Amino acid sequence: MFTTAVINKFKSTPTPFYYYDLDVLKQTLQKVKSESSKYNFIVHYALKANANNEVLEIVRANGIGADCVSGNEVKKAVECKFGRSHIVFAGVGKSDEEINYALDSDIFCFNCESKEELEIINGLANAKNKTASIALRINPNVNANTHKYITTGLEENKFGINLWELDDVVKLLETLSNIKLIGLHFHIGSQITDMSSFKSLCLRVNEIQGWFVSHKIHIENVNVGGGLGVDYHDPDNHMIPDFETYFKLFHDFLELRPGQKVHFELGRAIVAQCGTLVSKVLYIKKGVNTNFAILDAGMTELMRPALYQAYHKIENLTAIADEKWEKENGSESSFMQKYDVVGPICESSDCFGKAVNLPETSRGDIVVLRTAGAYGEVMSNGYNLRDKVKAVYS
Ligand code: LLP
Repeated sequence: MFTTAVINKFKSTPTPFYYYDLDVLKQTLQKVKSESSKYNFIVHYALKANANNEVLEIVRANGIGADCVSGNEVKKAVECKFGRSHIVFAGVGKSDEEINYALDSDIFCFNCESKEELEIINGLANAKNKTASIALRINPNVNANTHKYITTGLEENKFGINLWELDDVVKLLETLSNIKLIGLHFHIGSQITDMSSFKSLCLRVNEIQGWFVSHKIHIENVNVGGGLGVDYHDPDNHMIPDFETYFKLFHDFLELRPGQKVHFELGRAIVAQCGTLVSKVLYIKKGVNTNFAILDAGMTELMRPALYQAYHKIENLTAIADEKWEKENGSESSFMQKYDVVGPICESSDCFGKAVNLPETSRGDIVVLRTAGAYGEVMSNGYNLRDKVKAVYS
């Protein structure tokens, strides 16, 4: 829901751009903090969801840690003054340069994904006369029931160490003197709306913890990753995800050993709803069976629909504002029509939505794509030599 002042700001700003409602972000973070602190849970923000400086500054100011998946993300987290002792570094393919940078930055923990990686980190740490703290990223083989491209916790996925490799990994760790095992790490996928997937994760973590206890290995930290989904269909009524149920579920179902700390790596749930992609209609083109509303934003600015067939709510704010005005002044409101809402990029997959119901739409109207704060701006790219998309804040 946008105020008239915000819509006027959209009208007077060159499009396309990302608009971030920083109040929504702050309210979301407040809720994350109040719900997670009930159980002393530690939350890291997954920078991959949105690494915009303004956003990061607010996240950091709320005392949240950083979850990074590249050397540049670690660098960004350090530059944005996230506490080094609150930075975790994950990823299946960490390069030597990235590992060295993270070692030099004295980060809290490397989430390690393979035996090979453990050996490399050990060697690089040894060369620096350092000890790297690591968590084993274990592939729990739990189905997240989400899109296949954002499922990570199944054996068929490339992520993590498989359960049957644990014996070997533990034997290997005994020989690596520059590595200290401080935790276990799990992440089953993203945009998870079925809470029973998280319950399944908890139950699997309990079993795996049992294995470590039986091998007399003490685990200090349990990192259960991120993945909490958001409501793309009805953002106005679900601006803030249900962190209460989410954190309570882990509290209820995780069996913790004395002194164990639980960590989370949330990305989407923190930033998705505060972001909107704002564009203008360039043309309305009559097709054979449909009308195309051609926007000045495309898959280069928001890739999710093209890549994952993802749904983002599309609204014509000019028509909504006009309709409000007409209703208040007693004239007829506009009527709904169906449009294929597409971008200007030379790809047929550059389509934000087919047969979208919109009030009659014209050239120059402001059309927005909602819930675009996560994996929007960060995944934008310069295909077709497009300009880098800009950001505007409330
Ligand atoms: N931790 C790890 C190890 C991850 O791989 C991810 C996301 C997260 C945490 C944060 O997950 P979140 O809380 O945001 O669901 N580009 C895709 C999403 C890719 C997610 C990658 N990993 C999309 O637009 O839907």
